Amino acid sequence: MSDSSSSAELAVRLRALLSGMAPGDRLPSSRDLVQRYRVGPVTVSQAIAALAAEGAVITRPGSGTFVAPRARAGAAVADTAWQTVALTDRAVDTRSLTDALGPPSAGTIMLDGGYLHRSLQATRALTAALGRAGRRPDAWDRAPAAGLSPLRAVFATMAGGGVTPDDVLITAGGQSALSMAFRAIAGPGNPVLMESPTYPGAMAAARAAGLSPVPVPMDADGLRPDLLAEAFELTRARVLYCQPAHHNPTGAVLAPERRRQVVEVARAAGAFVIEDDFARHLGHGGPVPPPLVAADRDGTVVHLTSLTKPAAPSLRIGALIARGPVMARLRAVRLVDDFFVTRPLQEAALELVSSPAWERHLRTLATALRERRGELAAAIARELPGWTITRVPTGGLHLWVRLPDGLSDPAVAGAARQFGVAVSAGSRYFATEVPAAWLRLGFAATADTAELVEGVRRLARVG
Ligand SMILES: Cc1ncc(COP(=O)(O)O)c(C=O)c1O
Repeated sequence: MSDSSSSAELAVRLRALLSGMAPGDRLPSSRDLVQRYRVGPVTVSQAIAALAAEGAVITRPGSGTFVAPRARAGAAVADTAWQTVALTDRAVDTRSLTDALGPPSAGTIMLDGGYLHRSLQATRALTAALGRAGRRPDAWDRAPAAGLSPLRAVFATMAGGGVTPDDVLITAGGQSALSMAFRAIAGPGNPVLMESPTYPGAMAAARAAGLSPVPVPMDADGLRPDLLAEAFELTRARVLYCQPAHHNPTGAVLAPERRRQVVEVARAAGAFVIEDDFARHLGHGGPVPPPLVAADRDGTVVHLTSLTKPAAPSLRIGALIARGPVMARLRAVRLVDDFFVTRPLQEAALELVSSPAWERHLRTLATALRERRGELAAAIARELPGWTITRVPTGGLHLWVRLPDGLSDPAVAGAARQFGVAVSAGSRYFATEVPAAWLRLGFAATADTAELVEGVRRLARVG
């Protein structure tokens, strides 16, 4: 049994089992259920997901599945149903983000994380930087709305080309920059072109701004400029969101000859290119092409980057780089939203990136990421020969892995959780139809390479 009808049958049998148990009791482990009911792990995972959705059980990844507390008869429950009517349809869809930001569960190996494990973070340098920042007499004063000028100068230098500090606006990380850019550039109901697949947080931010993500296919060299031109013509979109360097999730780097084409196609359509350069400091030691904004002369490219990925997730400092009226719009959004980014954190970021420890950290990080990438790829080749790594990335934190035909990525991800390993289902990365089953496997959020290998061994039990 391995399809949805068998999981429905198993759910019926499990409901019978639950009726004889007390709230808080632990269900037999997935492995026991597999043996007891002679079904596959995917079937077990689907049945448990169905029971969890109806509130009959609670799953605590890493510790097991438990009988849910039953509602107390007569208990006073606030009647907030009126709010559903008052709030109309303005729900913000966060499903694609909660996986990535959920608390790590004890015992679960995190192959789905989008940030560095603590052992890889710049913790010591950050602590020292925060200490120095906190001792500044003006640390708690207001900061300029655009951000501290020396920090803006640092981001201008990182971008290179003709970028000046005046072109830089400090943001509270990359996600905030993305939301600001979508809101400043396009209005509700407008399309936004995006590589397919793409970062789910970008789709969520676009949708929250009322925009509709429209997928544009990629190949081994990144976004396809021919289809991009068609998409602009068809949709009349005024904005493209893309990640030219170490794209999340595929790891692709936009080919040199396509870099100019993409910007020219957008320019010809009268559209902006939002360049998400989140992985600028996540290279594995080789050269990383300069950002598109470095060669931009007429304000087509709106660039964003962030320090959360190479330093630590709570160093929520990033930057937007733009020129012309769009910069005035971005500054206005910044001001209206929250005045300015908290000054002590800006000071700490400045202390960090200006210290010699920063360059050392980036070098150590590149080596560690390269080693981890190699270990994960080797473990997959050994333990999961039917799974295909289409590209060994030269930067970033993930491998994009194609599953053998017949496997469903959400089902495999669900079953993997039961076996104590968290992975990211590929379908989350597509705005519309999902062409095949993929998983995004991260190599940066585990404690060490041994955990990576153990994670793959656990996956092999599912696959
Ligand atoms: C492609 C991409 N852009 C932006 C972000 C936002 O990161 P942050 O807000 O932590 O800077 C992420 C985080 O996962 C990402 O993967």
